[in-house]
Amino acid sequence: MKQRAFAYSFVAVLAVIILLLSTKESASIEPKGDFSKGLGTYLSYCWVCHGSNGNGNGPYSLSTKENPRDLTDQAYFSKKSDEDIYNIISKGGSAYNKSLHMKPMGFRLEVSDMWNLVAYIRFLSGGKIVGDFEIAHASAAEIYRKYCASCHGPEGRGDGVLVRYMPSPATTLGDRKIVSVKTDSQLYYSISGPKSIDLRVSDNYMPYWKDILSKEQINDLVQYIRNELAK
Ligand code: HEC
Ligand code: HEC
Repeated sequence: MKQRAFAYSFVAVLAVIILLLSTKESASIEPKGDFSKGLGTYLSYCWVCHGSNGNGNGPYSLSTKENPRDLTDQAYFSKKSDEDIYNIISKGGSAYNKSLHMKPMGFRLEVSDMWNLVAYIRFLSGGKIVGDFEIAHASAAEIYRKYCASCHGPEGRGDGVLVRYMPSPATTLGDRKIVSVKTDSQLYYSISGPKSIDLRVSDNYMPYWKDILSKEQINDLVQYIRNELAK
Protein backbone atom coordinates (compact mmCIF):
# COMPACT_ATOMS: atom_id res chain seq x y z
CA MET A 1 0.00 0.00 0.00
CA LYS A 2 2.76 2.38 0.98
CA GLN A 3 4.62 1.61 -2.17
CA ARG A 4 1.56 2.31 -4.21
CA ALA A 5 1.00 5.65 -2.63
CA PHE A 6 4.61 6.45 -3.27
CA ALA A 7 4.49 5.31 -6.85
CA TYR A 8 1.44 7.35 -7.22
CA SER A 9 2.84 10.57 -5.91
CA PHE A 10 5.74 10.02 -8.25
CA VAL A 11 3.49 10.05 -11.25
CA ALA A 12 2.18 13.42 -10.21
CA VAL A 13 5.61 14.83 -9.59
CA LEU A 14 6.95 13.57 -12.85
CA ALA A 15 3.96 14.72 -14.81
CA VAL A 16 4.42 18.16 -13.42
CA ILE A 17 8.14 18.20 -14.07
CA ILE A 18 7.46 17.30 -17.66
CA LEU A 19 4.86 19.97 -18.02
CA LEU A 20 7.33 22.40 -16.54
CA LEU A 21 10.02 21.35 -18.93
CA SER A 22 7.65 21.86 -21.79
CA THR A 23 5.78 25.02 -20.93
CA LYS A 24 8.04 27.92 -20.26
CA GLU A 25 6.17 30.19 -22.61
CA SER A 26 2.65 29.17 -21.89
CA ALA A 27 1.36 30.74 -18.71
CA SER A 28 -2.00 32.04 -19.73
CA ILE A 29 -3.02 32.32 -16.10
CA GLU A 30 -0.69 34.27 -13.90
CA PRO A 31 -1.30 33.63 -10.25
CA LYS A 32 0.79 35.36 -7.62
CA GLY A 33 2.70 32.29 -6.60
CA ASP A 34 5.03 29.88 -8.29
CA PHE A 35 3.28 26.63 -8.97
CA SER A 36 6.43 24.56 -9.21
CA LYS A 37 7.31 25.53 -5.65
CA GLY A 38 3.71 24.88 -4.66
CA LEU A 39 4.10 21.29 -5.79
CA GLY A 40 6.69 20.58 -3.11
CA THR A 41 4.51 22.01 -0.37
CA TYR A 42 1.52 20.20 -1.78
CA LEU A 43 3.29 16.87 -1.59
CA SER A 44 4.25 17.53 2.01
CA TYR A 45 0.96 18.85 3.38
CA CYS A 46 -1.94 18.20 1.08
CA TRP A 47 -1.70 15.09 -1.05
CA VAL A 48 -2.47 12.74 1.79
CA CYS A 49 -6.08 13.98 1.59
CA HIS A 50 -6.40 15.57 -1.83
CA GLY A 51 -4.46 12.87 -3.65
CA SER A 52 -1.17 13.10 -5.44
CA ASN A 53 -2.92 14.14 -8.63
CA GLY A 54 -5.28 16.49 -6.77
CA ASN A 55 -8.51 14.65 -7.45
CA GLY A 56 -9.44 14.23 -3.79
CA ASN A 57 -8.59 10.54 -3.51
CA GLY A 58 -5.61 10.64 -1.19
CA PRO A 59 -5.25 7.75 1.26
CA TYR A 60 -6.54 9.80 4.18
CA SER A 61 -9.72 10.66 2.26
CA LEU A 62 -11.04 7.22 3.11
CA SER A 63 -11.43 8.35 6.68
CA THR A 64 -12.78 11.89 6.28
CA LYS A 65 -16.54 12.30 6.41
CA GLU A 66 -16.59 15.02 3.77
CA ASN A 67 -14.62 14.28 0.64
CA PRO A 68 -11.55 16.41 0.21
CA ARG A 69 -12.28 18.78 -2.64
CA ASP A 70 -11.30 17.65 -6.11
CA LEU A 71 -8.63 20.25 -6.85
CA THR A 72 -8.75 19.44 -10.55
CA ASP A 73 -12.38 20.60 -10.76
CA GLN A 74 -12.13 23.39 -13.28
CA ALA A 75 -15.78 24.44 -13.07
CA TYR A 76 -15.57 24.85 -9.31
CA PHE A 77 -12.29 26.71 -9.14
CA SER A 78 -12.97 29.01 -12.06
CA LYS A 79 -15.60 30.65 -9.84
CA LYS A 80 -13.13 31.19 -6.99
CA SER A 81 -10.75 34.09 -6.78
CA ASP A 82 -7.11 33.56 -5.81
CA GLU A 83 -7.94 35.21 -2.49
CA ASP A 84 -10.80 32.75 -1.84
CA ILE A 85 -8.44 29.85 -2.32
CA TYR A 86 -5.70 31.49 -0.31
CA ASN A 87 -8.06 32.22 2.57
CA ILE A 88 -9.36 28.72 2.95
CA ILE A 89 -5.84 27.34 2.91
CA SER A 90 -4.81 29.87 5.51
CA LYS A 91 -7.89 29.85 7.76
CA GLY A 92 -9.10 26.32 7.21
CA GLY A 93 -12.50 24.79 6.51
CA SER A 94 -14.03 25.65 9.86
CA ALA A 95 -13.78 29.40 9.14
CA TYR A 96 -16.11 28.84 6.19
CA ASN A 97 -18.50 26.25 7.60
CA LYS A 98 -16.63 23.55 5.78
CA SER A 99 -14.93 20.39 6.87
CA LEU A 100 -12.78 20.53 9.97
CA HIS A 101 -10.42 18.15 8.24
CA MET A 102 -9.35 21.02 6.06
CA LYS A 103 -7.01 22.44 8.66
CA PRO A 104 -5.91 26.07 8.87
CA MET A 105 -2.44 26.00 7.37
CA GLY A 106 -1.69 29.65 8.12
CA PHE A 107 -0.13 28.69 11.42
CA ARG A 108 2.36 26.47 9.76
CA LEU A 109 3.06 27.82 6.30
CA GLU A 110 4.65 31.05 5.11
CA VAL A 111 2.51 33.48 3.14
CA SER A 112 4.60 32.73 0.06
CA ASP A 113 4.08 28.97 0.53
CA MET A 114 0.34 29.52 0.46
CA TRP A 115 0.44 31.66 -2.67
CA ASN A 116 2.54 28.96 -4.29
CA LEU A 117 -0.19 26.49 -3.35
CA VAL A 118 -2.81 28.73 -4.91
CA ALA A 119 -0.74 28.73 -8.08
CA TYR A 120 -0.44 24.97 -7.91
CA ILE A 121 -4.20 24.58 -7.52
CA ARG A 122 -4.68 26.89 -10.50
CA PHE A 123 -2.34 24.62 -12.37
CA LEU A 124 -4.22 21.48 -11.32
CA SER A 125 -7.61 22.91 -12.15
CA GLY A 126 -6.56 25.04 -15.09
CA GLY A 127 -5.35 22.63 -17.71
CA LYS A 128 -4.64 25.64 -19.90
CA ILE A 129 -1.27 26.29 -18.39
CA VAL A 130 -0.08 23.15 -20.10
CA GLY A 131 0.02 25.16 -23.29
CA ASP A 132 -2.73 23.32 -25.15
CA PHE A 133 -3.03 26.05 -27.68
CA GLU A 134 0.32 25.29 -29.13
CA ILE A 135 0.10 21.59 -28.58
CA ALA A 136 -3.18 21.59 -30.51
CA HIS A 137 -1.22 22.16 -33.71
CA ALA A 138 1.83 20.11 -32.85
CA SER A 139 2.89 17.04 -34.83
CA ALA A 140 3.26 13.66 -33.15
CA ALA A 141 7.04 14.09 -33.29
CA GLU A 142 6.80 17.40 -31.43
CA ILE A 143 4.43 16.00 -28.86
CA TYR A 144 6.75 13.07 -28.35
CA ARG A 145 9.68 15.40 -27.86
CA LYS A 146 7.79 17.59 -25.39
CA TYR A 147 5.84 15.07 -23.39
CA CYS A 148 7.38 11.65 -23.85
CA ALA A 149 11.11 11.90 -24.49
CA SER A 150 11.80 12.99 -20.93
CA CYS A 151 11.11 9.38 -19.87
CA HIS A 152 11.22 7.27 -22.99
CA GLY A 153 14.29 9.04 -24.38
CA PRO A 154 14.60 11.05 -27.60
CA GLU A 155 15.18 7.90 -29.65
CA GLY A 156 12.89 5.71 -27.60
CA ARG A 157 15.70 3.94 -25.76
CA GLY A 158 14.05 4.39 -22.38
CA ASP A 159 16.84 6.69 -21.25
CA GLY A 160 15.04 10.00 -20.71
CA VAL A 161 16.27 12.41 -18.05
CA LEU A 162 13.50 11.52 -15.63
CA VAL A 163 14.05 7.79 -15.44
CA ARG A 164 16.77 8.11 -12.88
CA TYR A 165 14.08 9.31 -10.47
CA MET A 166 11.95 6.25 -11.09
CA PRO A 167 12.46 2.79 -9.66
CA SER A 168 11.24 1.09 -12.82
CA PRO A 169 12.32 1.75 -16.41
CA ALA A 170 10.27 3.44 -19.14
CA THR A 171 9.46 1.10 -22.03
CA THR A 172 11.95 1.24 -24.89
CA LEU A 173 9.51 2.44 -27.52
CA GLY A 174 12.25 2.49 -30.14
CA ASP A 175 12.64 -1.27 -29.87
CA ARG A 176 10.85 -3.03 -32.69
CA LYS A 177 10.66 -6.32 -30.84
CA ILE A 178 8.69 -4.68 -28.05
CA VAL A 179 6.40 -2.56 -30.17
CA SER A 180 5.60 -5.09 -32.88
CA VAL A 181 3.87 -7.48 -30.50
CA LYS A 182 1.40 -4.77 -29.42
CA THR A 183 -1.80 -3.94 -31.24
CA ASP A 184 -2.63 -0.32 -32.02
CA SER A 185 -5.39 -0.46 -29.48
CA GLN A 186 -3.03 -1.69 -26.75
CA LEU A 187 -0.65 1.16 -27.48
CA TYR A 188 -3.53 3.60 -27.58
CA TYR A 189 -4.75 2.68 -24.10
CA SER A 190 -1.24 2.60 -22.69
CA ILE A 191 -0.98 6.23 -23.69
CA SER A 192 -4.49 7.47 -22.94
CA GLY A 193 -4.92 5.48 -19.75
CA PRO A 194 -7.54 2.74 -19.35
CA LYS A 195 -11.14 3.41 -20.36
CA SER A 196 -12.30 3.54 -16.80
CA ILE A 197 -9.77 4.47 -14.23
CA ASP A 198 -9.88 3.67 -10.59
CA LEU A 199 -7.17 6.03 -9.54
CA ARG A 200 -6.99 4.52 -6.11
CA VAL A 201 -5.45 1.40 -7.53
CA SER A 202 -3.20 3.05 -10.05
CA ASP A 203 0.42 2.10 -9.50
CA ASN A 204 1.91 2.96 -12.81
CA TYR A 205 4.57 5.54 -13.60
CA MET A 206 3.25 6.15 -17.06
CA PRO A 207 1.04 9.23 -16.86
CA TYR A 208 -2.44 9.12 -18.41
CA TRP A 209 -2.69 11.52 -21.30
CA LYS A 210 -6.33 11.41 -22.24
CA ASP A 211 -7.21 14.74 -20.66
CA ILE A 212 -4.21 16.43 -22.20
CA LEU A 213 -4.08 15.01 -25.70
CA SER A 214 -6.94 14.50 -28.17
CA LYS A 215 -7.90 11.07 -29.55
CA GLU A 216 -6.41 12.00 -32.85
CA GLN A 217 -3.13 13.03 -31.27
CA ILE A 218 -2.95 9.76 -29.36
CA ASN A 219 -3.63 7.82 -32.57
CA ASP A 220 -0.91 9.83 -34.30
CA LEU A 221 1.48 8.98 -31.47
CA VAL A 222 0.72 5.29 -31.87
CA GLN A 223 1.65 5.54 -35.56
CA TYR A 224 4.69 7.64 -34.74
CA ILE A 225 5.93 5.04 -32.29
CA ARG A 226 5.31 2.22 -34.73
CA ASN A 227 6.56 3.80 -37.92
CA GLU A 228 9.24 6.23 -36.80
CA LEU A 229 10.67 5.24 -33.44
CA ALA A 230 10.47 1.48 -33.79
CA LYS A 231 10.99 1.18 -37.52
C1 HEC B 1 -6.73 15.97 6.58
C2 HEC B 1 -7.23 16.13 5.25
C3 HEC B 1 -6.88 17.38 4.47
C4 HEC B 1 -5.64 17.95 4.29
C5 HEC B 1 -4.30 17.48 4.84
C6 HEC B 1 -5.83 19.08 3.40
N1 HEC B 1 -7.15 19.21 3.07
FE1 HEC B 1 -7.96 20.59 1.82
N2 HEC B 1 -9.80 19.85 2.16
C7 HEC B 1 -10.08 18.74 2.94
C8 HEC B 1 -11.50 18.52 2.94
C9 HEC B 1 -12.23 17.40 3.68
C10 HEC B 1 -12.06 19.54 2.14
C11 HEC B 1 -13.55 19.73 1.81
C12 HEC B 1 -14.14 20.81 2.65
C13 HEC B 1 -15.62 20.87 2.46
O1 HEC B 1 -16.08 20.96 1.30
O2 HEC B 1 -16.31 20.77 3.49
C14 HEC B 1 -10.96 20.35 1.67
C15 HEC B 1 -11.10 21.46 0.84
C16 HEC B 1 -10.07 22.16 0.28
C17 HEC B 1 -10.20 23.24 -0.67
C18 HEC B 1 -11.51 23.74 -1.27
C19 HEC B 1 -12.17 24.73 -0.41
C20 HEC B 1 -13.51 25.10 -1.00
O3 HEC B 1 -13.60 26.14 -1.61
O4 HEC B 1 -14.44 24.30 -0.85
C21 HEC B 1 -8.95 23.67 -0.98
C22 HEC B 1 -8.59 24.80 -1.94
C23 HEC B 1 -8.03 22.87 -0.22
N3 HEC B 1 -8.74 21.96 0.54
C24 HEC B 1 -6.67 22.99 -0.29
C25 HEC B 1 -5.79 22.28 0.52
C26 HEC B 1 -4.38 22.51 0.54
C27 HEC B 1 -3.65 23.47 -0.36
C28 HEC B 1 -3.85 21.65 1.46
C29 HEC B 1 -2.43 21.51 1.91
C30 HEC B 1 -1.80 22.71 2.43
C31 HEC B 1 -4.95 20.89 2.02
N4 HEC B 1 -6.12 21.29 1.42
C32 HEC B 1 -4.81 19.90 2.97
C33 HEC B 1 -9.18 17.96 3.61
C34 HEC B 1 -7.83 18.18 3.69
C1 HEC C 1 7.06 9.99 -16.34
C2 HEC C 1 7.62 9.12 -17.31
C3 HEC C 1 6.86 8.84 -18.57
C4 HEC C 1 6.38 9.72 -19.48
C5 HEC C 1 6.48 11.24 -19.45
C6 HEC C 1 5.78 8.96 -20.53
N1 HEC C 1 5.88 7.65 -20.25
FE1 HEC C 1 5.19 6.13 -21.39
N2 HEC C 1 5.75 4.80 -19.97
C7 HEC C 1 6.47 5.10 -18.83
C8 HEC C 1 6.71 3.89 -18.09
C9 HEC C 1 7.43 3.79 -16.76
C10 HEC C 1 6.14 2.85 -18.83
C11 HEC C 1 6.11 1.38 -18.47
C12 HEC C 1 4.80 1.13 -17.77
C13 HEC C 1 4.67 -0.23 -17.23
O1 HEC C 1 5.66 -0.94 -17.13
O2 HEC C 1 3.53 -0.60 -16.90
C14 HEC C 1 5.54 3.46 -20.01
C15 HEC C 1 4.85 2.77 -20.98
C16 HEC C 1 4.41 3.30 -22.17
C17 HEC C 1 3.78 2.57 -23.23
C18 HEC C 1 3.38 1.12 -23.13
C19 HEC C 1 4.28 0.22 -23.86
C20 HEC C 1 3.75 -1.18 -23.67
O3 HEC C 1 4.52 -2.00 -23.22
O4 HEC C 1 2.56 -1.41 -23.96
C21 HEC C 1 3.55 3.44 -24.25
C22 HEC C 1 2.93 3.12 -25.62
C23 HEC C 1 4.02 4.73 -23.83
N3 HEC C 1 4.53 4.61 -22.56
C24 HEC C 1 3.95 5.88 -24.57
C25 HEC C 1 4.19 7.13 -24.06
C26 HEC C 1 3.89 8.36 -24.78
C27 HEC C 1 3.35 8.42 -26.19
C28 HEC C 1 4.21 9.38 -23.95
C29 HEC C 1 4.04 10.84 -24.20
C30 HEC C 1 2.74 11.30 -24.56
C31 HEC C 1 4.72 8.79 -22.72
N4 HEC C 1 4.68 7.44 -22.83
C32 HEC C 1 5.19 9.53 -21.66
C33 HEC C 1 6.85 6.36 -18.42
C34 HEC C 1 6.54 7.52 -19.06
